Amino acid sequence: NNSQHIRNFCIIAHIDHGKSTLADRFIEKARLVSSRGPVQSQMLDNMDIERERGITIKSQAVKIPYTAADGTEYELNLVDTPGHVDFSYEVSRAISSCEGALLLIDASQGVEAQTLANMYMAIEHNLEIIPVINKIDLPSADIPSCLHQIDHDLGLDPDMAVMVSAKTGEGVDTLFESIVQFIPPPTGNDNSPLKALIFDSQYDSYRGVIIHVRIFEGMLKEGATAQLMHNNAAYEIDEAGVFQMGLVRTGELKAGDVGYFLAGIKNISDIRVGDTVTLASNPAKEPLAGFKDVKPVVFSSIYPVDSNDYEELQQAIDKLKLNDASLVYEKDSSAALGFGFRCGFLGLLHLEVVQERIEREFGLSIVFTSPSVKYIVTMKNGDVLNIDNPLDYPDPMRVDYVEEPFITASIITPATFVGAIIPLCMEKRGVQSGMNYLDEKRVELVYEMPLAEVLFEFYDRLKSVSRGYASFDYQVSGYKRTDLVRMDILVNGEPVDALSQLVFRGTAQARGRTVCEKLSTEIPRQMFKIPIQAAIGGSIIARETINAYRKDVTAKCYGGDISRKRKLLEKQKEGKKRMKMVGNVEIPQQAFLAVLKTD
Ligand code: GTP
Repeated sequence: NNSQHIRNFCIIAHIDHGKSTLADRFIEKARLVSSRGPVQSQMLDNMDIERERGITIKSQAVKIPYTAADGTEYELNLVDTPGHVDFSYEVSRAISSCEGALLLIDASQGVEAQTLANMYMAIEHNLEIIPVINKIDLPSADIPSCLHQIDHDLGLDPDMAVMVSAKTGEGVDTLFESIVQFIPPPTGNDNSPLKALIFDSQYDSYRGVIIHVRIFEGMLKEGATAQLMHNNAAYEIDEAGVFQMGLVRTGELKAGDVGYFLAGIKNISDIRVGDTVTLASNPAKEPLAGFKDVKPVVFSSIYPVDSNDYEELQQAIDKLKLNDASLVYEKDSSAALGFGFRCGFLGLLHLEVVQERIEREFGLSIVFTSPSVKYIVTMKNGDVLNIDNPLDYPDPMRVDYVEEPFITASIITPATFVGAIIPLCMEKRGVQSGMNYLDEKRVELVYEMPLAEVLFEFYDRLKSVSRGYASFDYQVSGYKRTDLVRMDILVNGEPVDALSQLVFRGTAQARGRTVCEKLSTEIPRQMFKIPIQAAIGGSIIARETINAYRKDVTAKCYGGDISRKRKLLEKQKEGKKRMKMVGNVEIPQQAFLAVLKTD
């Protein structure tokens, strides 16, 4: 059986430890791209946003042919995974399609919060783990201490560790040999009924829905009828193949393979990541285990800037959902913004990525409302409500008590920064529940914190007080009672429902002040004076004023140069497209976003 010569593996690591760079070296060694031509770095990071930010958001797969030292030919399927906490769901999906994982550790940083979190995920799925120490070319590399951490913190065998530099390529050959030696081949029988796990999908405007699968049992062939096990929808398979810097048609996929198929799927919602595909002619009895349902933790509404774009926005979100199974949404409407969608996200970075993808991939101009967590509100009459939208918040007089989600945060930091991190956690209403010395120099701080507090710039502040050294990971731990109020924002005396926020009473005033200040700088002057106020119930807690506008943009053109004048007016019109009329005030999209980023 040739599946003996297949190895399916992923690279897992803390953010920035070098996964994408290592993947580049693999691809280069395998001569999938010419090493002489201009090599684009981060070859698996396809999306513009990934390249610009230098982060991986989506897991990507690629097949690499490899001839081992003993002459045996292997087929390596590599899945690159993201490192940021918001995308750990992508990691879990990548892990489910592999037998082994390379656990990458930056030689100058050592083991960090997501190194541990990702390793536990790999262990849970019974993957063979090879520890890899990367960036050994750095002068600050500390290999002995990494080996100690591999043994002591991770409980892995330090003798198995492979030392590499993803930058120079040093050690990569040894790593290839370790992969074929230690990672087991896939099991599974070509003759059993087909069981293919859908681990991803994407929408391509020319080819339709491209479904990414890992074949666990049986064979998938062009011409056969595929059946989706969750709803029994059947589609004829038009094309099947593998990932090799793009799609390469092979006609069939066998047990153990990772690849794709196309089947002229019209109904996008038939496709669910985590579902099992089988064949209508010889269906499997039971589906594969699939994935845990993701629970969104941050909620926000998306509205088109131009209400006529609502239909298009609906289509864009449907298509995006194909490629991002963690996105959940339902219809929503607001007095200020019209019709839109209430969406659930895995974190603020996820929200930003969705926003950028909608704008770039679908060319739509949108506004997001202030993000919120989900609160549990118990009413005096005993009713219990789940509230994530400030617009749904009931009359406070009828509320008995409110609970908010808490997280257990694990922060790993060099001991020297503990003194700066503790006050930050306290300011964010954190309560310390543990402090563990991992070794002489590194400490793990464990905090119980309200999730709502880490949503707003906690991560950035943590990075800045620790000069980038502290790392952070969290899990939602449960709900605790809180003192919640709804803060409304009034622009020119009118409440703008899309700007309302649910906030902790103790920090409401400070927050109200920052929001008003932000808005007063973001909303352009208009022909009249505009008061901006924050209010709780009937009482105003903060206020700013935008003075009336006097100058005309074209005034400085002295009437002479017509074309320049026209250009200026065009520009002003462009700017207007991204404005939303609220009452008689124009609020730019930027203002809605700026409010999210208060610090
Ligand atoms: P995410 O995809 O965002 O999770 O990050 P990543 O783990 O893929 O890290 P990436 O490959 O983007 O590398 C992060 C940074 O480390 C980049 O600036 C790389 O150039 C650098 N880097 C990666 N490997 C090495 C190495 O072996 N040596 C040195 N000196 N730098 C490296």
